[in-house]
Amino acid sequence: MKNRLFIILFLVMITTVGSCFAEADPEIENYTRYTDYEPQKADPIGLIPGENHNVLVAWFSRVGNTVFDPDVDAVTRATLQYDSQGELLGNAQMIAGWIAEETGADVFPIQTAYTYPSDYNQTVAVGEGQDIDFVSLKLAAYLDDVSGYDTVWLVAPIWHYTVCTPLRIFLSETDLSGKTVYVVTTHCGSRFADTVERIREMQPGAKVIKAVAVSGSDPNSYEEEVRKFVQNAME
Ligand SMILES: Cc1cc2nc3c(=O)[nH]c(=O)nc-3n(C[C@H](O)[C@H](O)[C@H](O)COP(=O)(O)O)c2cc1C
Repeated sequence: MKNRLFIILFLVMITTVGSCFAEADPEIENYTRYTDYEPQKADPIGLIPGENHNVLVAWFSRVGNTVFDPDVDAVTRATLQYDSQGELLGNAQMIAGWIAEETGADVFPIQTAYTYPSDYNQTVAVGEGQDIDFVSLKLAAYLDDVSGYDTVWLVAPIWHYTVCTPLRIFLSETDLSGKTVYVVTTHCGSRFADTVERIREMQPGAKVIKAVAVSGSDPNSYEEEVRKFVQNAME
């Protein structure tokens, strides 16, 4: 009887420990190592086809990669924008929309596998840690085939004075050799920082061109400049 009880207890223990290991996701550690919050698994959107399959617009924004708390901090609130339907809109997301309208391009939202913190300072801490540790993040979705594109527009914020981590992950997984790559940044003062040089290093086979640096404090005032730049580039 005692033996049977011991075996049952042993089996329960093994099942419990086993299920703990089965649920552990090492990718979550990449996000929670630097600060205390609960990342959520992203819902991948994937490629949104346009009518011009020679051109790709790939963008990353904090919006779309963050579940914002209703009582979000003041710094974050000051950086958030809403579209005409009242939906949150990231700066890079909005700029990518202008470029897609001008070009008819396919659009790829770069999404990390897990979301970033709602709090601005926590996001900075997580992103900084990811840079320092050279953590290899996973994206929620990847592009299978970019061979059909001759022109690629990369639109993303500056993080920590350089290319934001998620765009770097995208660039390490995607070969843009032989393509013309336009770099559009959004920032709070760093403009392009060293992004163009770093993207040239990461994509030596691509022709990388500095396009427009859009201030994150007043992105709407750059709409005409961005649209004109795109029209000239696509002529
Ligand atoms: C983690 C993090 C780091 C940032 N680092 C910088 C920086 O080094 N230089 C800068 O000018 N702006 C920096 N910013 C500000 C963003 O580049 C700026 O708010 C941008 O417009 C946000 O674009 P988005 O709405 O598409 O995410 C940082 C923002 C975050 C969240």
